[in-house]
Amino acid sequence: MLNIKFYNEEKIPLEMHKVRIVQKLNLPPIEQRVKAIEEAGYNTFLLKNRDVYLDMLTDSGVNAMSDKQQAAMMEADDSYAGSETFTRLENKIKEIFGKEYFLPAHQGRACENIIAQTFVEKGSIIPMNYHFTTTLAHIVLNGGSVKELFTNEALKVRSDYPFKGNMDIAKLRDLIETYGAEKIPFVRLEAGTNLIGGQPFSLENMHEVRKVCDEYGILLVLDASLLADNLYFIKEREEKYKTKSIREITREIADLSDIIYFSGRKLGSARGGGICTNSKEIYMKMREYVTLYEGFLTYGGMSVREMEAIAVGLEETMDENMINQGPQFIAYMVEELQKKGVPVVTPAGGLGCHIDAMEFVDHLPQTEYPAGALAAALYIVSGIRGMERGTLSEQRDENGNETLANMELLRLAMPRRVFTLSQVKYAIDRISWLYENRNLIGGLKFVDEPKVLRFFFGRLTVTSDWPSKLVNKFKADFGDSL
Ligand code: F0G
Repeated sequence: MLNIKFYNEEKIPLEMHKVRIVQKLNLPPIEQRVKAIEEAGYNTFLLKNRDVYLDMLTDSGVNAMSDKQQAAMMEADDSYAGSETFTRLENKIKEIFGKEYFLPAHQGRACENIIAQTFVEKGSIIPMNYHFTTTLAHIVLNGGSVKELFTNEALKVRSDYPFKGNMDIAKLRDLIETYGAEKIPFVRLEAGTNLIGGQPFSLENMHEVRKVCDEYGILLVLDASLLADNLYFIKEREEKYKTKSIREITREIADLSDIIYFSGRKLGSARGGGICTNSKEIYMKMREYVTLYEGFLTYGGMSVREMEAIAVGLEETMDENMINQGPQFIAYMVEELQKKGVPVVTPAGGLGCHIDAMEFVDHLPQTEYPAGALAAALYIVSGIRGMERGTLSEQRDENGNETLANMELLRLAMPRRVFTLSQVKYAIDRISWLYENRNLIGGLKFVDEPKVLRFFFGRLTVTSDWPSKLVNKFKADFGDSL
């Protein structure tokens, strides 16, 4: 990594890029923000972007693209079958991951649909380090269930354990012994474990998982959507890999995986996705689902422009001075918030800064969706849109009871190379103010609750008129400031 010290010893992440295209932002006054969130059913997914100042909902499809990606998009070869663009992407996948067969899909969850339809049947059990919402939904839809085998460190909000995304190997052995390998079509490892705060697994841990899979003849599937962050953390935090290049680390990870799939909305900083493997048999099984659900085998629902952008984006991911930007900005935000006493997930992960709503609004029960309420409150006081990652993002069990989430997090995603440090400082300022006024935040309840992935479209209302109290205090402290 580049070593750039400041004379005044301040620790500031320094950008290794310059901005050449900008998009104008709008920060509506607080009165308008209160109205906007009410109209959105207190669900930040339903806000209109025109009412949002900093969109920290996700890093999905909104990472900044490079000049080289944009240039490649102009050279795309549009054809239904046999496009040169597809061949370029396929070759890049071969070069980086060493996988012979590549199946394109329109995004990450489409890959999950194909993998679940191919391997999961009634009674299947899928062990993983942690679930992701869409992964779980596809496995359950196909009659399977998920077993999360995280370590004791994973759910500790404050920890200095560098690899909270690791799988517990003893639990994996136990699970296989209990249910039998024939019930387990594959083990899934998620890079940069999303729902517990973008936390990485170590390569040592992945080697151990592979060993168990080999012993029992079980496939290992890697969700590489957040691989870029995980690569950075392996290089930064794992002694053995400090001297290895990102490309070498990537290849070692790929060689341990039977199947790799990714959301190109994250990995590769474009939009799309795909699955790769070295097994012709697996490829042939999955292939028919691509043509059925996605499109012909040489585009899989992606535009050729996006495929060109992914190919260049994957190559750029091999540059450690590119993939360090996100984690370093996040670390800055996490450390500054910690100094102000705000409860945040540590160590800082990838993807974004994660605020612990369970502690931030500890006066709210989980059944009133503390992380969702905090997301709504932060939008009101700042125009910043975050994402609830807690009980609201779970689905009810088969009897209709709430599944209380292990963690109640407000995720403030840091799309890569998008925000400036002054914008991050604004976020820190408003979050600290909200923390000092946290007792004003009240709960939420559903008005309209969809059965599947309810957090996307569900509409809620407030359990009391707490938003107007928050506005009054904001006005008292900030006057006519936006
Ligand atoms: N796997 C992981 C680890 C993800 O983070 C995502 C998406 C997917 C799979 C699904 O990919 O969106 O392209 O269909 N995460 C987004 C997020 C939605 O905001 O965290 P997709």
